[in-house]
Amino acid sequence: MRRHTAALAASLAMLFAAGCSHAPGYPAPAPLPPRQVMDFATLYSENCSACHGATGAQGPATDLANPEYEALVDDATLRNVIDNGMQGTMMPAFAISAGGTLTDKQVEVLVSGIRERWQKPNAFGAATPPPYAQTMPGDAQRGQQEYKTSCAICHRSSSQEITGKSYLALISDQALRTFIIAGSPDIGQPDWQHDSRDGKPATPLTSQEVDDIVTYLSTLRNPAAVTQQAGNAVKLGR
Ligand code: HEC
Ligand code: HEC
Repeated sequence: MRRHTAALAASLAMLFAAGCSHAPGYPAPAPLPPRQVMDFATLYSENCSACHGATGAQGPATDLANPEYEALVDDATLRNVIDNGMQGTMMPAFAISAGGTLTDKQVEVLVSGIRERWQKPNAFGAATPPPYAQTMPGDAQRGQQEYKTSCAICHRSSSQEITGKSYLALISDQALRTFIIAGSPDIGQPDWQHDSRDGKPATPLTSQEVDDIVTYLSTLRNPAAVTQQAGNAVKLGR
């Protein structure tokens, strides 16, 4: 986990540095005006790959190439996350209307390119996952029990400590939920229906159990740590 947090901070630094890479006095090469770039590969590598990985996986942030993630999230949500970022995390807002640099058309190119490359038919087979967004209030006490049963079997060594305040300060409840439901094959996080250590099907988590676990984790989060740990984060304000 700490590996991921450190890597995110480094990605962010690179991203800012990339904006002013020409030495003063030297003319920049003459590429397309930035707002006219409509090529997915260019838009993705310039704006996303530092955090989400060149191939959509293996970056410090969410595995976008995970077919289960692609099946879980709808177009409107993808567009909204890219437009407005995720408050309190390092996911920046990209829409010009939200202070970013991308036009609506460019965001559309990103959404359809992500779908084209990484969405696969039938990602869940016959199973129905809990919905992307939380629908009911969770119960922290039940969540703590459920965490012991379903998560602590793997998350007990310090390198996999996700109950730490400083880790939780950098991740939103939605991202936790996304991780729990869709898993993250690039780092070995199982999805909601494979919560046993050997990866064999266990009892799939219900939507309520996911709500409860996320609620439990969010009660461990210390908002003060956000400012300390994420001084460079693009958006603060949880
Ligand atoms: C079969 C083992 C296993 C189980 C069960 C498991 N995880 Fe994980 N999880 C992992 C591994 C391995 C990683 C990647 C470790 C790393 O990044 O250091 C991970 C990573 C994560 C991450 C992302 C950390 C990051 O890098 O940002 C979150 C969040 C997470 N797990 C939450 C949970 C929750 C909540 C549960 C219970 C519902 C759970 N996990 C159950 C193995 C497991
Ligand atoms: C500086 C690092 C950074 C950059 C650059 C970045 N992201 Fe993210 N992104 C994140 C982090 C961190 C999260 C998880 C945020 C959270 O905790 O909710 C995230 C989350 C997301 C999610 C939502 C995952 C979910 O839970 O539903 C999507 C979709 C996404 N990013 C797409 C993109 C796209 C497309 C780009 C490029 C236009 C991009 N990101 C650029 C760091 C970044």
